[in-house]
Amino acid sequence: MNVKELYESMGLPPLLDGTIRTAEDWERTRRPALLRLLEEQEYGIRPLERPQGVQYTVTGEETGPKGIRRRDIAVLIPNPHGGDALRIRAYLYLPQENAGPRAAFMMLNMRWNPAFDAKPPFPGMENYFAYQAVTARGYALVSVNVDDAAADADDGFHNGVFSLFDGERNATSWGVLSAWGWAASRVLDYLETDPEVDAARVAVLGHSRLGKAALWAGARDSRFAMVIANSSGCGGAGISRDTRAETIEAITRNFPHWFCGNYRQWGNREHEAPFDQHTVLAMVAPRLLYVQSSAEDPFCYTPNEYRGAAATAPVYRLYGYAGLGDAVAQPLIDRPVHGDRVGYHVREGGHNLKLADWNWFMDFADTRL
Ligand code: GCU
Repeated sequence: MNVKELYESMGLPPLLDGTIRTAEDWERTRRPALLRLLEEQEYGIRPLERPQGVQYTVTGEETGPKGIRRRDIAVLIPNPHGGDALRIRAYLYLPQENAGPRAAFMMLNMRWNPAFDAKPPFPGMENYFAYQAVTARGYALVSVNVDDAAADADDGFHNGVFSLFDGERNATSWGVLSAWGWAASRVLDYLETDPEVDAARVAVLGHSRLGKAALWAGARDSRFAMVIANSSGCGGAGISRDTRAETIEAITRNFPHWFCGNYRQWGNREHEAPFDQHTVLAMVAPRLLYVQSSAEDPFCYTPNEYRGAAATAPVYRLYGYAGLGDAVAQPLIDRPVHGDRVGYHVREGGHNLKLADWNWFMDFADTRL
């Protein structure tokens, strides 16, 4: 099968309409229109970027194994209603040597202080936060406490950043995934001020629900040079038109707070939606995109994630890149496909983020980021 046949067989909405011939056309008209569509129909509209009066605190440089350094960062966002500032915490891990600005991986995490000796947040996730491997290869690693910005809870959007900036909400108001991505952008604002990070070479990543959030973060903020969606499934890299795994109907019933109100109307009507997850993935072009699948993922039918990545090719081609290429064939387990600006692999095992995944992300990034 080739990319054209992929679109036909799945009924994917085309990314380019007949009038889009160049990257300039794409950026001027089509990309903004699709981004708006995704905001209004799936993740919700982020109310404001770069609020006024933001302050950063940087405390406690602590040294751990192998001389790895950690800085604790807080982004303080003033409360327009006069209450306490919103505090988004992040932890920056750096190799022993200060060698000037480095490329970085920015990982979205739940409230969990990744101290040097901390146990990972979930059992069996030893390598989930692979700070030793990442710093050993010369990268910085920054972990963002995204739930400082929005709790992973359906409380009617009264907590965190919602209480600060939202007025009347409607069906296009942002959900929690979008708020988490907004937090990532605010930490990127900080990184632009840190002399040890090259903010033009930051890869944003997350696993599972945080993989969905990382993808949308990177779609929405073009400053991220690379975007990695790990086991992101429904609402992430997985095409929703093929309903062999978690569906829009199920995800919006179980996690209504993740999306904007409009998204649930596409449940059981995936084939009528004027977008699918390849639309979100294509927002990353021409930047670096990486989609990871876990072979035994209960939430995702892994070919749907691969097809999402493969279907971005028409947009990468506008920029002269091949993406994953024109041939569409589900890659073998543990055989990464590192294409032209787009990478994909399916790792053996379950729904997880492991050292093997990190190593393949870094292999891809080493020569491209
Ligand atoms: C739920 C949800 C998935 C999500 C997963 C996770 O199971 O249905 O969409 O990816 O949680 O975040 O681990």
